[in-house]
Amino acid sequence: MTEQTKSTNTVWHHATVTRQRRAELNQHRSVVLWFTGLSGAGKSTLAHALEESLYQMGYRTFVLDGDNVRHGLCGDLGFSEADRVENIRRVGETAKLFLEAGVMVLTAFISPFRADRDKVRNLLGNQDFIEIYCQCPLSVCEERDVKGLYRKARKGEIKEFTGISSPYEEPEQPELSIDTASQPIEACVKQILNYLVQRGVYAEKS
Ligand code: ADX
Repeated sequence: MTEQTKSTNTVWHHATVTRQRRAELNQHRSVVLWFTGLSGAGKSTLAHALEESLYQMGYRTFVLDGDNVRHGLCGDLGFSEADRVENIRRVGETAKLFLEAGVMVLTAFISPFRADRDKVRNLLGNQDFIEIYCQCPLSVCEERDVKGLYRKARKGEIKEFTGISSPYEEPEQPELSIDTASQPIEACVKQILNYLVQRGVYAEKS
């Protein structure tokens, strides 16, 4: 879909249960934690581990994960540049709805193009968008090859595979850069939790 809407003659309805009121009820702000990085860099693993910690603290969270979303909402999309652009656009809009619903959204998508990530940042605003770069060299992702996809991509069995035959544009100024190649998962989670407190997303309970 393009930026222009075809939904003419529609009128926005304002909710009485506002985002602010939800934040008061939930005892935390809603925010989008946008994990980006190569396949196998640990985006989903880290997002789910972080979600577990936040859940145990009593907070409202939801993970939007590339592989899962591509089974439903984005099941009609492949991995061409145009399809990846549309994938990220839909995820950005979905994340925006969750934000309004008062939820901390954790998105785990390769999201290889800087322009698309920046579009989501502009859609949500700097206050609500936290870009987290899962920094892991291609050699390590390929060595791990958890899903066996790098091997297939090297053999030419998967076309346009990120890092092999399709580009990945590193974030220039992410809010957080996490070394997922050598740090244990607990350390990665702690780094993000500290940042969330520092940003005032929630207050540390004593
Ligand atoms: S994105 O580029 O549009 O952001 P997304 O995160 O949704 O990608 O999906 C990536 C996942 O799809 C990978 O983790 C991998 O399991 C799978 N996949 C299948 N084909 C490809 C491909 N050509 N490039 C990258 N990932 C692929």
